[in-house]
Amino acid sequence: MNDYPLITGFGFSVPDQVWDNHRLEKIVDTSDEWIQSRTGIITRCIAGKKETTATLASKAARTALDNAGIDVLDIDIIIVATMSPEMVFPSTACFVQDLIGAKNAAAFDISAACTGYIYSLSIASSMIKSGMAENILVIGAEKLSSIVDWTDRNTCVLFGDGAGASVISKSGEGCKIIDNVIHSDGSSTNLLYMPGGGSKHPTSEETIRKRMHFIKMTGKGLYKEATTSMTSAVIQILKKNGLRIADMDLLVPHQANKRIIVSTAKKLDISLKKAYVNIQKYGNTSAASIPIALTDARNEGRIKSGDIVVLVGFGSGMTWGASLVRY
Ligand code: ACO
Repeated sequence: MNDYPLITGFGFSVPDQVWDNHRLEKIVDTSDEWIQSRTGIITRCIAGKKETTATLASKAARTALDNAGIDVLDIDIIIVATMSPEMVFPSTACFVQDLIGAKNAAAFDISAACTGYIYSLSIASSMIKSGMAENILVIGAEKLSSIVDWTDRNTCVLFGDGAGASVISKSGEGCKIIDNVIHSDGSSTNLLYMPGGGSKHPTSEETIRKRMHFIKMTGKGLYKEATTSMTSAVIQILKKNGLRIADMDLLVPHQANKRIIVSTAKKLDISLKKAYVNIQKYGNTSAASIPIALTDARNEGRIKSGDIVVLVGFGSGMTWGASLVRY
């Protein structure tokens, strides 16, 4: 048996429909120049009417299973991280279990917004180490276009839809998950949230009139928190494992804003070339962003055998965390 849980399969799925910034110029008072210079985003993928968080997740999962060469019936657990679930209940993971035919799997969701994939990796790693499971599907999946306020230029230009999946296994060929760190600060729930539809503000004519079923965000506050928390999580996980920043071959950060990634790289005193960026193609896909970026980086040959890779995320909650992977 390996000492460390392994990522044995990678996959992602994004909708075919691509919206560039000029398309958004027709919806809200914005410009391609503003969006590119403030965020780095050029296009994002938007789900069609028949696509949902679960269908995107299932496509990503099938690709990851093929990549791992694992039969779907050998999956013991499915964890879906999402902030745009199929329904409030049952879990999106149960819909995925049915769609992909993972008849032997238990299934549940994780709510940690954009840090959801890191939280899920952390849980999956512990479950593999404890002997509770041999193969786990970890999926970050979002149909954010269904909870974005398309009249709010402060938020609608930022987000996109998509899903990224990984197969985490006890044995086989893959990259080692060396360690995970996760954090939260519940005093900052007001920075990014969707107020309507939960127990605090059940759906009513008033919640709909007040547009409470859409994402509300304080961009500037989040920006500050994001750079601080991502930097500290990277330093923490490297230090905890006896490594220096210089030992890190690639940083795969949550793709919320290119300027946040640039500023995090500066704080860590690393070249931007060491930080993977693909926000220009997909925008912010929340829980899906890190597994999509990891798969993209791998497909582009940005990760070599033996490389030390740090995945780092932050999101609503606030939540933040990092995973240390040896490829
Ligand atoms: N087009 C044109 N103008 C705009 C737009 C737009 N789409 N959006 C805002 N503006 C205007 C504002 O109204 C403001 O105008 P004003 O000065 O007349 O009031 C001006 O642009 C500047 O706005 P700022 O908020 O100062 O812009 P800033 O440079 O801070 O960038 C942004 C805003 C992109 C939101 C940035 O703050 C950011 O990226 N924050 C972090 C967001 C984030 O990470 N969110 C996801 C968290 S992860 C998760 O859990 C999903």
